[in-house]
Amino acid sequence: MFYVFLLQFFVISFSLTILVESATNARYAHVSALINDQLFIIGGQPTSFQLKGSNDVFYLDLKKSFNLQDPSLVDITRTSGMPLTISWASSTVVNKDGILIYGGYTWSLNSGNLDNGDNALYLFNATTKQWTIPTVSGAPPPKRREMKIVSDNNENIFIYGGIQLGENPQWYTDMNILDAQSEFRWELIQMKNSPTYPRADYTATMLPNGVIVYIGGRTRAVRDASILETELNIKQITLYDTKDATWYPMETSGELIDNRNSHSAVLTPDGKIIIYGGAQGPNLITASPSLAILDTSTSVYTWSVPTISSQFSPPPLILHTADLYGDYMIVAFGQ
Ligand SMILES: *[C@@H]1O[C@H](CO)[C@@H](O)[C@H](O)[C@H]1NC(C)=O
Repeated sequence: MFYVFLLQFFVISFSLTILVESATNARYAHVSALINDQLFIIGGQPTSFQLKGSNDVFYLDLKKSFNLQDPSLVDITRTSGMPLTISWASSTVVNKDGILIYGGYTWSLNSGNLDNGDNALYLFNATTKQWTIPTVSGAPPPKRREMKIVSDNNENIFIYGGIQLGENPQWYTDMNILDAQSEFRWELIQMKNSPTYPRADYTATMLPNGVIVYIGGRTRAVRDASILETELNIKQITLYDTKDATWYPMETSGELIDNRNSHSAVLTPDGKIIIYGGAQGPNLITASPSLAILDTSTSVYTWSVPTISSQFSPPPLILHTADLYGDYMIVAFGQ
């Protein structure tokens, strides 16, 4: 299944939901990026039983109108496919037309073998449609999955937490910066007041004032020799100020919503973070409601649940992507 939801919103109340569905290209744990009115979708886990990721690259041209039942995705995999297959990675836009992909599982295109190499960075130029492996300096952090990378206006990319690759994985609590402005340079940050617990499958949203808002996700603790994995309290927002490398917890006000992992988040120009989807626990119980808004323009952030008038009911999703294009939040694929 392939879904695109267009949620048109006016300040806080959503007026329209359109569900687009077609039977091709199904995937989850992919990445997306919006560059020059083109929504790129890269990689992900095809929803078949073979778990080898995908090297697909395609885009939806948002300048043209498209058929909601069958949006014309431009598939450029044959000429511009990723040099390996990938899933469970994270991406961000760098230097205007670059899509930087970090981490995740990768597999060799030829052999299908899991790639055990150290490289965790791939750069796609959305203008030339070419892939490169950036040359990096500094000590790279251990490669990981199920984290969200996020960048500021100065092309500093922040990489926090996530889960080690391989069996019996370690969960991370560290914060790393990749400086992507002139060269790609790694730096491990000494943080103040950092959370002691690890975190994965959260969302990370960079506010214009340089504060990263970490929402939800799950953590892991070892208690009495057994491992407990639980969702983090979504009422308790974790803020990281990139200006002074300091963490600040914030108790939010407003409506109560379920804790969740593997949801999505977009930021509106007026400071509202719209989250969608997510689930809880090993049985992936749907977190409710799917759609919620965190207002970051007030001194204490406030959760609210918008009223949706919709023709179709979007399914609850995890491991999808969401991108904001004008007044539309486009939610693509997922499980
Ligand atoms: C992409 O390629 C164009 C044309 O060569 C170049 O001007 C641009 O800087 C490249 N973008 C990135 C992010 O490297």
